Amino acid sequence: MASSLSTAAISSRIFAASSSSSTSLLSLLRSTPSLSFSYSFRSLAFSSHFSPLLRRSTASVRSSGRFSTVASPRCAASDPNQLKSAREDIKELLKSKFCHPILVRLGWHDAGTYNKNIEAWPQRGGANGSLRFEVELKHAANAGLVNALNLIQPIKDKYSGVTYADLFQLASATAIEEAGGPKIPMKYGRVDVSAPNECPEEGRLPDAGPPSPADHLRGVFYRMGLNDKEIVALSGAHTLGRSRPERSGWGKPETKYTKDGPGAPGGQSWTVQWLKFDNSYFKDIKAKRDEDLLVLPTDSVIFEDPSFKVYAEKYAEDQETFFKDYAEAHAKLSNLGAKFDPPEIDALTQVTSKNFVAPEYPRKGCKLE
Ligand code: HEM
Repeated sequence: MASSLSTAAISSRIFAASSSSSTSLLSLLRSTPSLSFSYSFRSLAFSSHFSPLLRRSTASVRSSGRFSTVASPRCAASDPNQLKSAREDIKELLKSKFCHPILVRLGWHDAGTYNKNIEAWPQRGGANGSLRFEVELKHAANAGLVNALNLIQPIKDKYSGVTYADLFQLASATAIEEAGGPKIPMKYGRVDVSAPNECPEEGRLPDAGPPSPADHLRGVFYRMGLNDKEIVALSGAHTLGRSRPERSGWGKPETKYTKDGPGAPGGQSWTVQWLKFDNSYFKDIKAKRDEDLLVLPTDSVIFEDPSFKVYAEKYAEDQETFFKDYAEAHAKLSNLGAKFDPPEIDALTQVTSKNFVAPEYPRKGCKLE
């Protein structure tokens, strides 16, 4: 049976590619200290709606090879105690590597292959961990994301009770929050695909420079079941990070804002403080602030298309509204196409934009406090 890439397998593939940046990443990976595992006997906070899950969990909760009879709200797909520990490890990783942006992009590119017109899982794509397989990492849109996988593979290796699908989304949401963004109402329990032949075909993610950017964005995001407000809110994630010509072909090799890092120097950012999540993406595009800041054709269209513009203007003015809409849209994106275990959460992936209400969203399933 095909299995996911182990740390060693990924490392050897990167080594085979033998670019200078990947070689340094390999060294980085090799030098990552194995972090000590601490198991918490404290059960997670939960409320009465977790009781069906609790019944399922009291028998035997696997935690990194150990067994416990401690009761905790249980996602069958991922162990909540391990999810919490993994989140702490992700926070440490963010502090040392400043990799917030690429972890956000990793989560988005796993989820963003979702096609609402396909019912069958995993053919419908979405947040199912398929992006760990080489065949999908090699899609042109995913250039550079092997670096993100390498950064979090040691955390995956440490927590066998957390699925890739959950870990990608946990890493992305944690990165947004740690960069100063809103708290995202996340749910966990996503099931992983198990083989490369379950990856989506290439071409489901957006291009940055299509002939008609507004039509293209609608074509891609409507296919995911997202609407104009969500397209604009999610585009605001570009307040973080940089584009690198050697990866996507977009952006300058370096600018005054990126030449010294933090993290690996270079690339062109959308904002001045590209590790801080705020509404400066909208403010800076509107003000045409600086030639050293990146504006992709799909970024500028949010201030040109009449429907997108309503939201872009609002977010440039009002960071609170941006944060609220972003958190809702990000949570929705993170669940697209996912098969949750326990399965009752699955119904929530079908919720349309119209009736999606973030505050009620976390009622079922496994929620990390
Ligand atoms: C609207 C359509 C979108 C297009 C055309 C687009 C395109 C791109 C491109 C070309 C890059 C540069 C990649 C590189 O060279 O390394 C990039 C980076 C990035 N994208 Fe998007 N993107 C889109 C939407 C999104 C969404 C919805 C999110 C998240 C919710 C997102 C998050 C990011 C982040 C955080 C980076 C920076 C990665 C880094 O610094 O390593 N993007 N995007």
